[in-house]
Amino acid sequence: MPIPQSFLDELVERSDIVDVVSEYVELKQKGTNLFGLCPFHSEKTPSFSVNRDRQIFHCFGCGEGGGVITFIMKAENLGFVDAVKHLAARVGMTVPEDGDADTSKRRAQVLTLNKEAARRFHANLYSPGGRRGLEYFYSRGLTDRTIRRFGLGWAPDSWDDLLGGIKGYEKSLFLEAGLAVANRKGGLYDRFRGRVMFPIIDLRGEVIGFGGRVLDDSQPKYLNSPETIAFSKSRNLFAMNLAKKSTYPAMILAEGYMDVISLHQAGFSSAVASLGTALTDAQARLISRYKQEAVIAYDMDAAGRGAAERAIKLLEDAGIKVKLIDMAGAKDPDEFIKRFGADALSARLTQSEGHIEYRLGTLRGKYDLSSDEGRISFLHDAAEMLAELSSPAERAVYSSRVAELAGVRAEAVADEVAIARKKKAGKERSAERRRELNPVAAMQPKEREVRYSDTKSARAEEGLIRCMYSDGELLRKAREALPPEQFSSETLAKAYSAMLEAADEGRAPSPAIFEGRLTPAELSLVMKVLMDPEPGGEAAFLSYVEVVRAGYEQRQAPDDLVERWQKLKKTKGWEDKEDGE
Ligand code: UTP
Ligand code: MN
Repeated sequence: MPIPQSFLDELVERSDIVDVVSEYVELKQKGTNLFGLCPFHSEKTPSFSVNRDRQIFHCFGCGEGGGVITFIMKAENLGFVDAVKHLAARVGMTVPEDGDADTSKRRAQVLTLNKEAARRFHANLYSPGGRRGLEYFYSRGLTDRTIRRFGLGWAPDSWDDLLGGIKGYEKSLFLEAGLAVANRKGGLYDRFRGRVMFPIIDLRGEVIGFGGRVLDDSQPKYLNSPETIAFSKSRNLFAMNLAKKSTYPAMILAEGYMDVISLHQAGFSSAVASLGTALTDAQARLISRYKQEAVIAYDMDAAGRGAAERAIKLLEDAGIKVKLIDMAGAKDPDEFIKRFGADALSARLTQSEGHIEYRLGTLRGKYDLSSDEGRISFLHDAAEMLAELSSPAERAVYSSRVAELAGVRAEAVADEVAIARKKKAGKERSAERRRELNPVAAMQPKEREVRYSDTKSARAEEGLIRCMYSDGELLRKAREALPPEQFSSETLAKAYSAMLEAADEGRAPSPAIFEGRLTPAELSLVMKVLMDPEPGGEAAFLSYVEVVRAGYEQRQAPDDLVERWQKLKKTKGWEDKEDGE
């Protein structure tokens, strides 16, 4: 029996390629990619690289490349099924065997039940019994449109509204979905009672869990679904299904359900929240798949500030540029919008505090600046932080800020920063040299078989492949705008077709969709193309389409010219001139 696609998808989702590869190779961040010594060929300088956002690896030396499963096949010398088993064991998943131990089937059933529950909760809201819930949402300023958009609902104060009301499912499935709780005698009752309901929807549009809020101040204020086979709190974000489509360049990170919903209603469509826990590494990586920037809009209390500090670190580790929004005057974004309006928030967003300023503030709080010792330690740590800034102007501005805080001359800070930068540069220099010797962006592929005939167009085709790989929306647009035949590179055209077909089957892009369709040399080229950290985006996409189209037309043109010349000759009765005349 083939392993179900849904199982493979989940396995790959849970097996972060950086974590897996790190068990074999020592990786170092260099720009967006990580580099290390290739485990598949012998080398002294690292040309093996991993791209976290796209979850692929590629060796610029030997050309091996692919996704996490391919990596394990090669590293452990295993066949496909055994590599899958190896990875599954690593994350505690069981590869479904024939018969009833089929977790992915069970998972699908849980998702179906969840969807039915969400429908019922939502319908309740607009029935006489749900009046209280609907009025609660109105009292918090939500419109019917917003309520519909988020599929909000109402769980009546009853022990068996769901258990009794949704027919045709085993009772144990309610338990497995986290919708029911077992009492000591094994009897089941509804988990969510007398609460307004917030369905949590994943990237594929599946209802994976719920949050429910009481209408008064009783505890717990919010009750969330437990971890189930369909729901992992640490890997999902509330409203990510909506935010991923937002064209706003930064992801807005809030703390709670109501904050996110208020933000969306006020037009901030890229707002998401973690689900009642601190932001996790997996969530930061999820964000990095969609946006290169994030704005933190946490509560203004001490807990919120601490959470923000930790979130910054995780987001930066995932390669995201972080800013903080100053919400002074309100305790959270929801309150801010109510009190000052969306325009005021917009203004705060554009002037949101750079994280350096914020971190300097935190750093300052750590040391006793009235003592020499405290000032020296502060100066040292601050200089290291400023050494990370690539803009000299920024370094100068913040250096004088630090000088002020520490009560020293600005030149002293500048000197410290210069020393910190030298140290940092020394560490990076050797890696830099390697990159020069082995330029990532060599114009022509090494392999003859995949050489480009039209390098200008091929450049743009490479860009298109990258844009479409990370953004399904752009792939859909490309389908209408550009047939694969207009690509100049046969290899890239094949990769494009493979992506279109995978989309038809509802599969997300992964290295697996190219396998079996591309030769090893072709696959290697595509992986190399995807390794380029260029962020893509709609504007880039459109200009690439134009370049490829223009290239296509130009390649058609010479034939046209010849044809037109022939015609002209015929109609005018011209003769070809003899050589030498
Ligand atoms: P808050 O208490 O800040 O919630 O908790 P809030 O969004 O401001 O709630 P409102 O405005 O009073 O409705 C932030 C988040 O922490 C989680 C929830 O995810 C909530 O959205 N939380 C909070 C819980 O999971 N359980 C709780 O009891 C409280
Ligand atoms: Mn609130």
